[in-house]
Amino acid sequence: MSDNGKRNADNGKPARIEIRAMEIGDLPEVYDLGEDLFTAERWRTLYRTWDEYELATLFASEGDLCIVAELDDDIVGFALGTILDKRGSAWVYGHLLWLGVDPKVGRRGVAAKLLERMTETFIVEGARILLVDTAADNEAALAFFRKNGFGDEEPHVYLSKNLTDDPEYKAHRKREKLRDAAARRRARKLRMQKRAGKPAEG
Ligand SMILES: CC(C)(COP(=O)(O)OP(=O)(O)OC[C@H]1O[C@@H](n2cnc3c(N)ncnc32)[C@H](O)[C@@H]1OP(=O)(O)O)[C@@H](O)C(=O)NCCC(=O)NCCS
Repeated sequence: MSDNGKRNADNGKPARIEIRAMEIGDLPEVYDLGEDLFTAERWRTLYRTWDEYELATLFASEGDLCIVAELDDDIVGFALGTILDKRGSAWVYGHLLWLGVDPKVGRRGVAAKLLERMTETFIVEGARILLVDTAADNEAALAFFRKNGFGDEEPHVYLSKNLTDDPEYKAHRKREKLRDAAARRRARKLRMQKRAGKPAEG
């Protein structure tokens, strides 16, 4: 489905934004756009990390809830979600996990279109509540969600503890190093036996 978006600031023509299901061939482009948007330093407190594994897993398990926004054959936005059935709760939640729009088409309604399509899909999937989360200082996202009807804000605090000084951490790393060294010794021995034409020992 194509629909005419707001006016394109660059040439005054209407920007044609198409919202469609994400396809396997879109993964690299979506990944790259996410890399630009969800940078580690900006999102360091986020409990999720943007990586190939996260994207591929969501695509494989929640394909219906992965959509993209396309403009002139370029992917300029995406939304990825999941359905949450909370134990002990009759409510089904639609969790919008990742929403990203290329800044070059920012504030032209692309995220609003993605959200609209995600909302329709979440409803069809049985969701009664839509859930989003973002860093407390992400003013653009907060403004966007508030503008689009989200409320009931509940602040969360993330605390962290560096484990690298923990004795168990150090012992574990030492065991790993010993294991790696033993594996390297075994590989070297095999290579030498091969070179000498000897059959490998078990
Ligand atoms: C948040 C985000 C998805 C908004 O996308 P968008 O396509 O620009 O949003 P829309 O055009 O549909 O909506 C515009 C509204 O969003 C808010 N908004 C968007 N960018 C903003 C900014 N830089 N500063 C303040 N408000 C902003 C405003 O409410 C704006 O309305 P207005 O222009 O009338 O003030 C986009 O900025 C983005 O990808 N940010 C980085 C990733 C992110 O934070 N994702 C959300 C959490 S997963």
